[in-house]
Amino acid sequence: MLGTGTVGQTVGGKLAGLGHDVCMGSRTPDNEGAAAWVERTGEHASQGTFADAAAFGNEIVVNATPGAVSLDVLHAAGADNLAGKILLDISNPLDFSRGMPPTLTVCNTDSLGEQIQRAFPDARVVKSLNTMNARVMVDPGSVRGPHTVFVAGDDHVARWQVKQLLLQFGWRGDAIFEFDGIAKARGLEMYLPLWLALRGAIGDRPFNIKVAS
Ligand SMILES: NC(=O)c1ccc[n+]([C@@H]2O[C@H](COP(=O)([O-])OP(=O)(O)OC[C@H]3O[C@@H](n4cnc5c(N)ncnc54)[C@H](OP(=O)(O)O)[C@@H]3O)[C@@H](O)[C@H]2O)c1
Repeated sequence: MLGTGTVGQTVGGKLAGLGHDVCMGSRTPDNEGAAAWVERTGEHASQGTFADAAAFGNEIVVNATPGAVSLDVLHAAGADNLAGKILLDISNPLDFSRGMPPTLTVCNTDSLGEQIQRAFPDARVVKSLNTMNARVMVDPGSVRGPHTVFVAGDDHVARWQVKQLLLQFGWRGDAIFEFDGIAKARGLEMYLPLWLALRGAIGDRPFNIKVAS
């Protein structure tokens, strides 16, 4: 798990609760937030640097860092530590430098998911879960009624494995909308301005969208 923020702690906690061993990575090996998470989470949890965590994750590495610095974080994690692995990218390329609402650091003809896939061609990048808040990611039942989670990536086996993880998180199979191609990350990331507007209107209550056809 690359990232010690809300997503890292929430998704990492869910994974550990399911019995997966999780190493939470940070810029420093002794990050206080990660230490508290390890203490709370128990036997399946450990901490280290971004490189330690990426090396530890022999099945899947999760990017839960701010999109504006994700490429730097992944370079710190090390291309060798990502090669051949599923890289679940939950990040959003938000630029808060000009205040609220944030803008996107990349959009229209490119996406952060694609930038990551190009920078780390041996990783199997899958974009998912970035379109909802952290609680909904691991507790889809917190939103009433059916709703949708997207999965996009070039590698169909990697997409399948991420879908298995989503099922473990409690997502129904028919809630998972799969896209063939990491380029679909463009739309998933450009949804963020709408998500932020919905968040402004709805407030703290968990919410999500559903694709109906
Ligand atoms: N929060 C949500 O509910 C939510 C929902 C959907 C998607 N997302 C996306 O998920 C990602 C993570 O969000 P978050 O709220 O969990 O955490 P966050 O606060 O955005 O990120 C925390 C992590 O980023 C690292 N970091 C911060 N600045 C850095 C820098 N300059 N260089 C390297 N690393 C840096 C921190 O490192 P240290 O550990 O060293 O401090 C920490 O591990 C974001 O892209 C966000 O847009 C969040």
